[in-house]
Amino acid sequence: MNILFMGPPGAGKGTQAERIVNEFGVPHISTGDAFRLAMKQGTPIGIKAKEYIDQGLLVPDDVTIGIVRERLQQEDCEKGFLLDGFPRTLSQAEALDDILTSMNRKLDHVIDLKVDRDLLLARLTGRRICKSCGATYHVIFNPPQQEGVCDKCSGELYQRSDDSEEKVGTRLDEYINKTAPLLAYYEAKGLLRQVDGEKEIDTVSKEIVSLLRG
Ligand code: AP5
Ligand code: ZN
Repeated sequence: MNILFMGPPGAGKGTQAERIVNEFGVPHISTGDAFRLAMKQGTPIGIKAKEYIDQGLLVPDDVTIGIVRERLQQEDCEKGFLLDGFPRTLSQAEALDDILTSMNRKLDHVIDLKVDRDLLLARLTGRRICKSCGATYHVIFNPPQQEGVCDKCSGELYQRSDDSEEKVGTRLDEYINKTAPLLAYYEAKGLLRQVDGEKEIDTVSKEIVSLLRG
């Protein structure tokens, strides 16, 4: 199954992706995670991406599209994939169509998680992530059993540098201006499914699974 998750920063794409890839046995492809790894490793792509991510801005299309094209051609994507955080611009969506067509494949579902701006702000500023395994928590909505420590691997939890109130504001504006218009693009293709992302994490997962199985 070839799945795409859309939705603003903080809508729960990463949280739900972790669960859905386990359920359907497909790889999770997150451009945000790919950039954070490249930044940590200090690669040329990481150095370039950091200039934009640190300001809450989108990374240029040519950099982003290259990463996804390479990733989708890897063997583990033959059984399907879950794309999270890509595409985010019309050029990226058109590039994705071209990449998939050249591989004789297509998207099966586009899931849009809907959450209001105030709640997105609260979610992002309270988010904590495990340094070792990448699991996501929230200080209030999804706290670990022991403060600052991952339940799954006992790794240390940290706050993303772009989760400050100021950067979150810029990220939400980038979403509204450049990414939200893509919803109409996928609606016109008959692929768009909307899910209320404000419900409990488990409830949202169940709704997504039922849409994907439906
Ligand atoms: P990326 O890493 O993709 O970030 P994002 O889209 O801003 O999304 P987030 O990871 O912030 O949110 P999420 O929806 O995954 O929410 P989460 O599940 O963590 O991108 C980062 C940056 O990289 C971009 O700003 C850009 O610069 C660059 N980039 C990436 N892709 C790009 C592209 N294609 N083109 C150009 N640039 C690109 O949940 C958030 C919090 O809420 C967590 O704490 C979680 O525990 C909690 N939570 C989740 N669901 C619920 C729920 N149902 N109830 C209560 N709490 C919940
Ligand atoms: Zn962990």
